[in-house]
Amino acid sequence: METISFNEVREAFAKEVLEAKAIDDIEKLKVKYMGRKGVFRRLQDGFDFQLMSAKEKKRFGIEFNTLKKHFEETLIEVEAKLVGDNVTLVRKIDVSLPGKDSRIGAIHPVNLVQIELEAIFQGMGFSAMTGPEVVSEFNNFDALNIPNDHPARDMQDTYWLKNGMVLRTHTSSNQVPALKKFGAPLRVIFPGRCFRYENVDASHENTFYQLEGLMVDRDISVAHLIGVMKTLLSEVFHRDDVKIRLRPGYFPFVEPGFELDIQCLLCGGKGCLTCRTGWIELIPCGMVHPMVLKHGGVDPSKYTGFAFGLGLTRLAMMKFSIPEIRLFNCGDIRFNSQFIATV
Ligand code: DAH
Repeated sequence: METISFNEVREAFAKEVLEAKAIDDIEKLKVKYMGRKGVFRRLQDGFDFQLMSAKEKKRFGIEFNTLKKHFEETLIEVEAKLVGDNVTLVRKIDVSLPGKDSRIGAIHPVNLVQIELEAIFQGMGFSAMTGPEVVSEFNNFDALNIPNDHPARDMQDTYWLKNGMVLRTHTSSNQVPALKKFGAPLRVIFPGRCFRYENVDASHENTFYQLEGLMVDRDISVAHLIGVMKTLLSEVFHRDDVKIRLRPGYFPFVEPGFELDIQCLLCGGKGCLTCRTGWIELIPCGMVHPMVLKHGGVDPSKYTGFAFGLGLTRLAMMKFSIPEIRLFNCGDIRFNSQFIATV
C-alpha cells in the first residue's frame, strides 16, 4: 500500500476541508480519514514501529495524536458552521451511549460484623448501646479496678486530653456507667471505637473497634459465659463445630479472667501460618470483679456476672480472611465493597 507522510496528510486535509460545502462532505471526510482503510491508518502503516527507538515512537505518538485532534476539532467547527450551533450540540450528545456508572457505597467489614453481632446478641436478650468515646479517667481505669499506680495502666498507652479526660482505650469504659444507669439484672453490649497510642503496623492500629458485653444477674457462672460465647461463635462463623478453650488471663476488672481461644478455622487446629499453634486468641473475658459491681452500685453478694471485650477488627479479619489491619482505614471503596452480609 502506498504510504503517506504527516505533512501530506496535513496539507491534503487543509485543502479538502475548505471544499466541504455540506454535512455529507463532512461525513465523507470522516470516512476517508478515520475509516478502517482511511488516511490515518495508512499513515500508521507507513512506520515500522519495530525499528523505531522508544524516543521515536513517543515523537510519532505525540504528532499522530495532535494531528488527529486537529482533524476532529476542525471537522466539528466546520460542521457547526454548516448546520448551526444548536444542531451540532444535539449531535454531540449521543443519547444511545450508556450513562455514567455511579458507584454504590458498601458497608465496611467492621460494621458488617458489628451489625451481625448485634443481631445475634439481641437474639440472646442483650440490648445494643453506644457509649461516649471521650470518657473520664475514672470510667476508663479506676472504676474498673485499675488504680493510678497499678501496672495494668501501662498495658494501654492512652491518649490523654488536656482536660484530664481520655479517648477510651477499651469499651470496658461502659461497664460501670451501664451498671449505675440500669442496675441488675442487665444484659448489654457496647460496640464502638477505641484508641491507643500505638505504632501502626500490619496488626496494630491506633484506632480499632471492640464490642464489650456484660451480663449480670443472680447465679451467673462461667458456664453461662461459655454458653453465650459458643452460641456467638457458631452464629458468626455459621458452623456449630467451633472449638474453644479458656486459658487464664489477667484483667483487673474480672476475677477469674480468661483468654478465650478458638481452634483455627483455616487449618482445623493442625497449626498454620495464620495461627501457628492451631488456636487463635479471640475474646478476653471473665467474671465481673466484685469491686466493679460495687462501683456500679450493684450488690456483689446478690449478683454475679460475666464480661467480655471482643476485638471487632480482629473478628472481621478472621471472618473475611483479611491479612492486614491497615486496610480497614484505607478508605478505598474497592476494599470495602468485597464483603457481604451473612445475616
Ligand atoms: N478491655 C480489655 C482490653 O481492651 C478486654 C477485656 C478483657 C474486656 C476482659 C472484658 C473482659 O470485658 O472481661 O484489653
